[in-house]
Amino acid sequence: MERKIIYSAVQPSGNLTIANYVGAIRNWVALQSDYDCFFAIADLHAVTVRQEPAELRRRTLELAALYIACGIDPEKCALYVQSHVSAHAELCWILNTLTYVGEASRMTQFKDKSLKHAENVNMGLMDYPVLMAADVLLYQTDLVPVGADQKQHLELARDLALRFNNRYGETFRIPEPYILKGSARIASLQDPAKKMSKSDENPNASVFLSDDRDTILRKFKRAVTDSGNTVVCAEDKPGVSNLLQIYCSFKGCTVPEAERAFEHTGYGDFKLAVGETVADALAPVQAEQQRLLADKSYLSQLLKQGADRAFYAARKTLSKVYRKMGFYRGE
Ligand code: TYM
Repeated sequence: MERKIIYSAVQPSGNLTIANYVGAIRNWVALQSDYDCFFAIADLHAVTVRQEPAELRRRTLELAALYIACGIDPEKCALYVQSHVSAHAELCWILNTLTYVGEASRMTQFKDKSLKHAENVNMGLMDYPVLMAADVLLYQTDLVPVGADQKQHLELARDLALRFNNRYGETFRIPEPYILKGSARIASLQDPAKKMSKSDENPNASVFLSDDRDTILRKFKRAVTDSGNTVVCAEDKPGVSNLLQIYCSFKGCTVPEAERAFEHTGYGDFKLAVGETVADALAPVQAEQQRLLADKSYLSQLLKQGADRAFYAARKTLSKVYRKMGFYRGE
């Protein structure tokens, strides 16, 4: 039987947080044996907000090393840089012609980012979800493992695929989001109403994958909790619930198990335990990432190999799209 196809990506913008790790990358590892996987470094998406060129270059390679350090096997998956496969930009252009300005301008993330980067509300920012649709549809993807914040974008991808198929005939597979419960929406440590984000202005709000042990412990020590003193997951305890969720994601246990373990523990010791668990889990990943970064030519070679695999699959879909739309391809 044909194996199902998985696609996902992370932007090399800002420092990655533990939310990107448990909400996305780490979940990919378990999927790579049973699916054909494409995992990209979304540099074309990253430039929709201004990037320092040298930093973008450095972060792209760091992210490649991180994927591998987290357990992504570049022999099993196509691990590549989005801009190395020009079919992404080409299909994005085509899909633009099927996307209504109204639907693009209604995307929650576009509205949020427009407020945040009011001085730079560029066309790319609005086009971000269309490029994401192009990413996913190029590979005839079945499943897209992401955090909950990307659900709306994937609904647009599904709509665009259906629209194209209706207009030009069966071309794209309709992708499904794959959103894990629990880790899908890790909140800020300073304001549990907000999602944890790479670009939060408050440095204590997010734990970065590059943070050292002391920094991690300090950030968890300062994390906001709630009134009361019991460690339970409840709607009126968003701060403690978020910390429990982080703990469970890193410890690999269930919420009831964690609640039982902390039954007689105060908030201070609980936060210390969460910090230690996160720091212990990240230490080997950080060490492996540094080891990989010492051999940049090896990483570049892996990325080239990934791009070659992606190119082949993407071209197949793109040729079909051009043909169906009536683009002249020669006699
Ligand atoms: P990015 O880099 O913003 O986020 C990368 C992944 O991390 C997840 N994530 C979270 N998960 C749980 N809690 C959070 N607080 C949290 N914040 C972020 C995101 O849902 C995402 O899975 N646009 C995508 C990148 C992309 C993509 C694609 C994804 C480009 N093309 C095609 C899937 C398919 C993004 O959000 O990147």
